[in-house]
Amino acid sequence: MIPESFIQELLSRVDVVDIIDKRITLKKAGANFVACCPFHQEKTPSFTVSPSKQFYHCFGCGEHGSAISFLIEYEGLSFVEAINELANSVGLKVPNETPLKLEKNSEYVNLEDAVKTASIFYQKQLRKSPEAISYLKARGLTGQIAKEFSIGYAPEGWQNLKNVFKNYENDILIKAGLVIKNDKGKLYDRFRHRIIFPIYNDKGSVIGFGGRIINPEDTPKYYNSPETPLFQKSYELYGLLTARKSIREKGYVLVVEGYMDVVGLAQKEIKNAVATLGTATTAFHIKKLIRYTQEIIFCFDGDDAGRSAAWRAMNNSLESVTDNMQLKFLFLPDGHDPDSFIREHSVNEFELLAKEAIPLTEYIIKYLTINNDLATQEKKVKFLNEIEPIFKELNASKLSLLFKKRISELINLNLEEINQVLKTKNVYPKKNSSKLPDRLPISRVRKFCLLLILRPDLIKQEDSEFFISEDEEDKLALSIIEITKENGEYNSAMILHFLGTRFDKELIKQIHMQLSIFDDEMEMDDEINALRASIKKSHSSLINKQRLNEATKKGLDSLSEEEKDFLKNIGKG
Ligand code: CTP
Ligand code: MN
Repeated sequence: MIPESFIQELLSRVDVVDIIDKRITLKKAGANFVACCPFHQEKTPSFTVSPSKQFYHCFGCGEHGSAISFLIEYEGLSFVEAINELANSVGLKVPNETPLKLEKNSEYVNLEDAVKTASIFYQKQLRKSPEAISYLKARGLTGQIAKEFSIGYAPEGWQNLKNVFKNYENDILIKAGLVIKNDKGKLYDRFRHRIIFPIYNDKGSVIGFGGRIINPEDTPKYYNSPETPLFQKSYELYGLLTARKSIREKGYVLVVEGYMDVVGLAQKEIKNAVATLGTATTAFHIKKLIRYTQEIIFCFDGDDAGRSAAWRAMNNSLESVTDNMQLKFLFLPDGHDPDSFIREHSVNEFELLAKEAIPLTEYIIKYLTINNDLATQEKKVKFLNEIEPIFKELNASKLSLLFKKRISELINLNLEEINQVLKTKNVYPKKNSSKLPDRLPISRVRKFCLLLILRPDLIKQEDSEFFISEDEEDKLALSIIEITKENGEYNSAMILHFLGTRFDKELIKQIHMQLSIFDDEMEMDDEINALRASIKKSHSSLINKQRLNEATKKGLDSLSEEEKDFLKNIGKG
């Protein structure tokens, strides 16, 4: 674990503009820098980087953060790698990290910790199991790759996790999908005698597992974590965290069907592959992937199951397809999945197939004409009926037009005639609700907080006296004042980083947004003073009420001199 104080120091030394400008070209615009957002596709820049606030924020997709989060999101680095990289760039040495130790009776505080603790346990068990190791070896995997994907092993036995968690009975373990309660109320481990594939989210936390049998007689072949508050299958992709960098470098992503496919490909140095989690590809998946690349290649087995999975993936993806990206389909020879293909053939042959993957619209035509030679009017009508729903989903206007043209040629109609018979989606230019989000009415305290984040040098420690309620806003203000107490030099990024460790993600996102629309050149001293005075006034009546309550509860004799004074003077001013 890297000490929080070091992270703060790092954030005070690096310049977010510098870090980002090395990777994407920034243009000066007023007090800020702007660029087309690297996290979503766009033609006009809505990504801003603020040198004074030391953060970035995109008005289009809401992506935001510090130099650290930029490296994590953009370069696909892990948190520790990002810290190392930044430290190097300013000549700082990262203090020794003590590896996370797994103690027998380790405590855990939340779902995330429970899953992480289990994952560390499974990895440890893999190193102790000759059977599991030789299974993976037999499938061509090295220890290095197993480590890269944090592959683990859940040993035989019903309650191994009892030795890992202090309270095996804690509902958190059930909620995390690690433990199951049977009808009789008996608890047992979900994963037993299986190879464990941990599934990571974008932030680098383990959120669930896939577990594969070792013994061919066992069923089912794969068993996954259930949906939990951390883990939603239709949203996550296996391997994305490790693949991001390679996806950017190669310019495309391969979407395969199996965990073993991702790992098997990575073993052969094809690292730009991700897999869905035993479910169909969803529009979410597509939206997630186009943050990293404009070309998505679905890779399916050449059997019936693969063909119908491809058709389903196509249907689910249609609404997310834009004119700025390409969807392609790659079908492997019957009987092969990517993992088996690459082991029997070669990386070269596989990459050749990827090059020749069929573009979306050609794939649709091919699929619908396998059993339809379009030789009669009736067959053409059938074809048109089948293709109509696809046009209703497709938002990409240029692609839609060209596709229609192609179809008109296929069935010998002109474009005008096709337009008459095919109902298509009305593709208006996307009404990209005005670039700047509406300025929300914000409370006085919130505004005060925002100003303090921008100008920590204007914080007075006695400000903390006024924020006494249990309101989130008051807690926010207190936190900001509190952190600056501990250490003299603070900048906005450091405060935001600190708040990020304490407050809800949505709140932090909102704060970034609000800070982004603040005018940098605004005169802040007067504004802060005025706010301070007005907050002081309204809060002091609240404070008086509290003190009065307390004082009247006590007998007159037990009042302190100060309290007596207070009671005497109340109401005088
Ligand atoms: N799957 C699942 N539950 C099953 C079978 C499969 O969730 N009972 C999911 C898993 O995510 C699996 C994917 O579907 O990775 C593809 O299944 P399959 O092709 O059978 O597995 P592979 O990943 O190819 O694994 P292996 O090569 O070990 O058979
Ligand atoms: Mn396989």
